[in-house]
Amino acid sequence: VSPFRPDAAVSDICSETTELADIDWDSLGFAYVPTDYMYTMKCARGGIFSKGELQRFGNIELNPSAGVLNYGQGLFEGLKAYRKEDGNILLFRPEENALRMKIGAERMCMPSPTVEQFVEAVKATVLANKRWVPPPGKGSLYIRPLLIGTGAVLGVAPAPEYTFLIYVSPVGNYFKEGVAPINLIVEHELHRATPGGTGGVKTIGNYAAVLKAQSIAKAKGYSDVLYLDCVHKKYLEEVSSCNIFVVKDNVISTPAIKGTILPGITRKSVIDVARSQGFQVEERLVVVDELLDADEVFCTGTAVVVSPVGSITYKGKRVSYEEGGFGAVSQQLYTALTRLQMGLTEDKMNWTVG
Ligand code: COI
Repeated sequence: VSPFRPDAAVSDICSETTELADIDWDSLGFAYVPTDYMYTMKCARGGIFSKGELQRFGNIELNPSAGVLNYGQGLFEGLKAYRKEDGNILLFRPEENALRMKIGAERMCMPSPTVEQFVEAVKATVLANKRWVPPPGKGSLYIRPLLIGTGAVLGVAPAPEYTFLIYVSPVGNYFKEGVAPINLIVEHELHRATPGGTGGVKTIGNYAAVLKAQSIAKAKGYSDVLYLDCVHKKYLEEVSSCNIFVVKDNVISTPAIKGTILPGITRKSVIDVARSQGFQVEERLVVVDELLDADEVFCTGTAVVVSPVGSITYKGKRVSYEEGGFGAVSQQLYTALTRLQMGLTEDKMNWTVG
């Protein structure tokens, strides 16, 4: 199969990819599965992106002096495609990821693709890999756009060249618990973000920064870590890969976006869905002590969707919530959101893209 030509219909390029891939669709987790094609587009510092192409999925070659390898000049995004019963494929709010990448690129001194380029590239990549979009109800195709400094640098400076790349992988549940509640531990010594830092953009280094606390927590049997703000050490921030919500007396609260928390697209969608269903939702400072008498706690993210929290441990004290599954509020929001994403309900929000 020849590389993507912008003048050719993607359906011509990937005419071989009509059948579903031959994998066990019932045992998808959140692990990398190599697929058929990836999309790449390059741009010089100060330039604009053009002439993207689909090519066979495979390794990329990098100069050892590339900005991303030496100084972490890189961003990523995450979004999903779902297969409907009628075979059509739906994307969920791809323009929101494009906008977030633009904001992040500005913070990281990188050029970024336009919203239109981003969305078109996502569509082309999904179409080229459509045999990897799981059957309805079995999971989704996780789409991972990257924006990285690939040009060589030695002194600390923005790289002279950038690559926008998209690859995809079929996924099921993020946590090994599946949809069962996860157990979190509050981390009060290590922090993921600082005021004025890059915690509010999806730069790759934010995720390297959580690995230590996360591995210690996992070794002790926890699913993941809940971070506190680094100044007062008492306000909730986020979990390593997702946002956090607390429910008390049917009021839903979540930490406000103030530069140290990732502005999650699932977070924002859940807030809108909850408000449209009549819930009061507060975006504010949420004190860690509020976890002690919460009715429900749940996480949101592209990868985790809406995940119920079964327990939180803070300074040696464990508080338990729903033992067996979702609480009533998180169940209602999970159902509303996923039915919308999978095209099972009317999309009054106009969020899905076919
Ligand atoms: C996503 O939900 O897309 C994320 O960024 C989580 C990822 C770190 C696994």
